[in-house]
Amino acid sequence: MRGPVRDALYANIVAATARTIEDGGVRILILGGSRFLGRAFAAEALDAGHDVTVFNRGRSGPDLPGVTAIRGDRENPAALDRLVPEGTAAEPWDAVVDTSGYVPKIVGEGAAALAGAAGAYLFISSASAFADFPARPLSAASPLFDCPADATEGEYGPLKAGCERAIRANFPGRVQIHYPGIILGPHETSGRLTWWLSRIARGGEVLAPGDPRREIQLIDARDIARFGLHCLETGSTQPFLLAGPKGHTTFGDWLAACAQTTGSDARFVWAPDDVLTGHEVQVWSGLPLWSPEGGEAAAVWDKDCAPALAAGLVCRPIEETVRDTWAWLKDAPSLADEDGRIAGHGLSPNDEQRILAALKDRR
Ligand SMILES: NC(=O)c1ccc[n+]([C@@H]2O[C@H](COP(=O)([O-])OP(=O)(O)OC[C@H]3O[C@@H](n4cnc5c(N)ncnc54)[C@H](OP(=O)(O)O)[C@@H]3O)[C@@H](O)[C@H]2O)c1
Repeated sequence: MRGPVRDALYANIVAATARTIEDGGVRILILGGSRFLGRAFAAEALDAGHDVTVFNRGRSGPDLPGVTAIRGDRENPAALDRLVPEGTAAEPWDAVVDTSGYVPKIVGEGAAALAGAAGAYLFISSASAFADFPARPLSAASPLFDCPADATEGEYGPLKAGCERAIRANFPGRVQIHYPGIILGPHETSGRLTWWLSRIARGGEVLAPGDPRREIQLIDARDIARFGLHCLETGSTQPFLLAGPKGHTTFGDWLAACAQTTGSDARFVWAPDDVLTGHEVQVWSGLPLWSPEGGEAAAVWDKDCAPALAAGLVCRPIEETVRDTWAWLKDAPSLADEDGRIAGHGLSPNDEQRILAALKDRR
């Protein structure tokens, strides 16, 4: 993506924003940038030859070598002033990539500070920003929650929709919104693939949820980052729902990839939904990414990502995501608590044994 693509990005941002950008390459500011998705954006952008600045508090981990780091708290107006010092003559950045926006008022204040300082704004929202999720099938045209642009509290999904509104008010016509579903990959912080890998690596009988043939739509953080940069290059303002394509993988294939990658002797014991519900396994987090089929979350794996695929999204095979995540995780400091749970995800060994025993009694 060097040379011509860099020039194309430069040209497209200029065209999209009708602004004059000084020579010197594409300058990307990532709000966040030191962990998981933001880190993937930084890595992909550096790899593509872009100039990358990250803005964070320096708490979540080291910045990648090669980035310029500006320290500050996006909740602190004085820090935003540091981001764009008074008297800044030209736009310091061609594009902002915001992977760490959750509160509309704060996101809006940041966007207002950056409005004259950057050409385009790519905001990472979430499938949860859609009012229909997870009950009904989603597309990027599905209705969003209605949330004020100056909201300060509420639930995650509606707040994400409010953040979008706040950004659009400050970057009219220069905004890209991407709505990912479940994101996996190296440096994952949510405890989903990381918990399954850790559990399956221990081997033995492993309690697995529901139907192994159930199709799931997982997407790698690095594929989101690559696609986001591609959209900046093309000057797109189209919103995209980002998820693994339908038919990309199943729950069974995903867990089998974990067993293969970790060299585990795991023997999966698939528990029907009603057994898990009967044992009060927490939906979504008890066995990460499990929810009973039908009911309130009937369409949790029904996301239309065809427009993103047509626009250039490429999703790597799940086996590659699993392999690379394990390569990172096995040498990383343990993420698990004393019950073996990660970031509130997973079952304790005692709970798992209890349900496995109950399943044997049923047979
Ligand atoms: N995980 C999923 O499956 C999923 C699904 C859909 C959408 N998403 C979206 O994907 C994004 C995930 O982003 P992410 O993995 O990069 O992590 P994140 O947890 O959203 O953000 C962490 C980054 O932001 C920085 N940061 C946090 N608070 C800050 C503050 N007050 N001021 C300045 N910097 C701050 C952190 O560094 P410091 O702590 O050092 O400041 C770190 O670099 C989110 O927008 C999320 O809503 C995730």
